[in-house]
Amino acid sequence: MSKFIVKGGNKLMGEITVAGNKNAALPIIAATVLTDEECFLENVPDIIDVRAMLELLKYLGKNVENIDKNTVRITGKVNNSDIDKSLAGRIRASILYMGPLLARTGHVYLPPPGGCVIGLRKVDSHLEVITALGAIMENDEHGYKATLKNPKPASIFLKESSVTATENALMLASSITGETTIENAASEPHVGDLAEVLIKMGVHIEGIGTNRLSIKGKSNLKGFKHKIMADFIEAGTFAIAAAATNGDLIINNAEKKHLKMTVFQLEQLNVKYEFIDDNRLRIFPSELIAYTDKIKVGLWPNFPTDLLSPYIVLATQAKGSILCHDWMFESRMFFVDKLIAMGANIIQCDPHRVVVNGATKLHGQNLSSPDIRAGVALVIAALCAGGVSEIDKAELVDRGYEDIVGRLNSIGADIKRLV
Ligand code: EPU
Repeated sequence: MSKFIVKGGNKLMGEITVAGNKNAALPIIAATVLTDEECFLENVPDIIDVRAMLELLKYLGKNVENIDKNTVRITGKVNNSDIDKSLAGRIRASILYMGPLLARTGHVYLPPPGGCVIGLRKVDSHLEVITALGAIMENDEHGYKATLKNPKPASIFLKESSVTATENALMLASSITGETTIENAASEPHVGDLAEVLIKMGVHIEGIGTNRLSIKGKSNLKGFKHKIMADFIEAGTFAIAAAATNGDLIINNAEKKHLKMTVFQLEQLNVKYEFIDDNRLRIFPSELIAYTDKIKVGLWPNFPTDLLSPYIVLATQAKGSILCHDWMFESRMFFVDKLIAMGANIIQCDPHRVVVNGATKLHGQNLSSPDIRAGVALVIAALCAGGVSEIDKAELVDRGYEDIVGRLNSIGADIKRLV
């Protein structure tokens, strides 16, 4: 177990570059199962979740060659469709192998997937889509077992716009001849990045970026070369960190088209910013004031749930009261007790809602990171607190953020890691 030691009080200044999108890289790695041809991935974030996903891919029989830190060549074919229990338990995204493995081998066995404990995180939507496309489930007490004897295209209406269930449906439907439609599909940009890859593989897909996807699948999918899109959650995280420390930061690879709601919500806390061009965002020193009394997460293109924890920290630095509401995940908010220990004035109303009263001076504390996003939120809190903070379970932050220590230090932070 490693920990971060953060000395607070420094403003984040200079320039930082956003890495590849974790939640695009994970399904795109799973999609390589759909072909035996070479797949070449660029801008792959070097983070623990991606490493775990690649390890699983090797376990399934593929060759994975790291050309450099962010470039991966994947060749060969799968020869195993029973996913290892301990590997599956390391990462929730192991569920993304369900659709591709069924497509390629007609079989999948998936022990319960792991991942961040931020809510109930059911698998119903995944089972719903693979069943609609012809899979027969025979679950046992150890996991989910499915076989695909008669693959068939389908008209799917998702009961929830689940991101990864939409991705599983896209990948399985891509290898089934005929037209599948997915209504109430998730429309997050990373779902679109996966769809672009499937198009490169030879699939016809319409409706990218909307809630209705139409897929005309094919039996022989091609290899591809793809640069993973930039991570708009990371861009938002750095923007929040800069604003919370009253810094002046240029964020490269911050795609304007993916940050509309994020910058709107930053404006609500009086954060001054400018887009230098379509993919560079500058955050200016700002006097933080809450101009809204409420922020609620939503499905795309609304405010992403994965940015709410950092936003709560920013709200502690803004004058005024703001209700922060995450209806998606039941345990997302529990980390606020750590902010309260640092001096924040936060009232937890219920599992989904907190009221943040600011501005408060935070002070250094010994903390523990509960999940990726709360972990990075605690790092931001420690950066704007007086004194030194120790944050245990640093590896949880490493699951989603590449070289967080090196990159934050390069923009003026004082953070080190103890292994
Ligand atoms: N939900 C609803 N109604 C909906 C859609 C979702 O109630 O219409 C609920 C679900 O029941 C669930 C939660 O919202 O509790 C999230 O659902 P979803 O199935 O979309 O989540 P996921 O596919 O398991 C992906 C990301 C998460 C991100 C969520 C939401 C990946 C690998 N993971 O998870 O990322 O929080 O979508 O955008 O893509 C993270 O990066 O830290 C992370 C947890």
